[in-house]
Amino acid sequence: MSDSPRPLKHARLPDLWGPDEVPHTPEAWSSHRRPQLLELFRDHVYGRTPEGGGVANIRRISRDAAALDGLAERTEWTVTLTGPLGTRHVSLLLYVPREATASDPAPVFVGLNFNGNHSVSADAAIALSQAPMPEIAERGTDERRWPLSMILERGYAIATMHYCELEADLPGHASGGVRGLFHGEAELERPDSRSWGAIGAWAWGLSRILDVLETMPTVDAAAAIAHGHSRLGKAALWAAAQDQRFAAVVSNESGCAGASLFRHSAGETIAMITDAFPHWFAGGFRQFATDVDQLPVDQHLLLAAIAPRPVHVASATLDFHADPRGEYLSTLHASPIFSLFGGSGTLLTQLHVPGTDVLPCVVANLHEPAVGRRVGGRLSYHLRFGEHDVIADDWSHFLDFADENVLA
Ligand code: GCU
Repeated sequence: MSDSPRPLKHARLPDLWGPDEVPHTPEAWSSHRRPQLLELFRDHVYGRTPEGGGVANIRRISRDAAALDGLAERTEWTVTLTGPLGTRHVSLLLYVPREATASDPAPVFVGLNFNGNHSVSADAAIALSQAPMPEIAERGTDERRWPLSMILERGYAIATMHYCELEADLPGHASGGVRGLFHGEAELERPDSRSWGAIGAWAWGLSRILDVLETMPTVDAAAAIAHGHSRLGKAALWAAAQDQRFAAVVSNESGCAGASLFRHSAGETIAMITDAFPHWFAGGFRQFATDVDQLPVDQHLLLAAIAPRPVHVASATLDFHADPRGEYLSTLHASPIFSLFGGSGTLLTQLHVPGTDVLPCVVANLHEPAVGRRVGGRLSYHLRFGEHDVIADDWSHFLDFADENVLA
């Protein structure tokens, strides 16, 4: 990030409060504005998640009582997902600290992985992903992104699933994934403007993992933290916004349609993302590519829709595509809602600059975050040196954030 403030592309962000007069109280937020915002995100960005599906069955397929040098119990599960049009089988990998018991269950990080459960650890006992992929990743390729021992040592369980088992990440592949549980081919080929996209499907999968965890006695599903990197961070935010059972969420470099503001003039735009990944979104989202001002939401409102549950946003200095400053600004603008509930966000002083339509914190640029330090409270942020990635340094912030906000 440069030292000088960058303007928002369009100075006005949609208000935290709607056009109709509502008293600024936590109750009004929860009963009125939050549901209204979720409807707007459904209608215009991610699409509407259908009702009526769920987990039909779970079957344990492997167990190692002393995985990771005795640190954890590792289990794998075949989860049968169901919807009006059929079933799909997906695989869940779960590590639980060995000291966890039914009377002292472990809080849990719940996140999807990019390359298969077998990519998060080189353990040859983990089943290879069954997702329809052109190439199967090597075992343990993503170990660096999943510092399992570090997470387990801190007392957290970890549950993960290959996102492509929920839906392959290519246009035209929805019917083979979980969206095919709800819609026939014809409907999926001609989606209406509000039909859900793949991000919605992956978010739905995160909620189904939570359904499974609720049945596991040594896991504290009431202390489940949704997390994800990049496109999977977008899915984690959307899952936590909709499903209030998630106790918290961690977004790592989720960028455009994740934590970053659409209206900040940097990084990926709606035009770029809908060109490259048309299958991720509601059918109608693309129309905002040429006029972002017409979009009735921006992503600070997605963070706010998760309040008062804790949210951590992570960026990296060289991840220009995900727009670190846009992600930070988004946390500043969501902060007032976290304050409304008695917590704090990243915005410490609310400034008002009369007569300007540039947002106050951009004018003031008061709270530029220092690299490597977590700032904020129940809504927090950290900026790491380096490229688009998730590494142990990021995880140490995630764990501190969870200790302070989920366990405390
Ligand atoms: C692409 C895409 C981003 C996404 C990223 C990722 O770069 O443009 O929006 O976050 O992939 O998932 O790694």
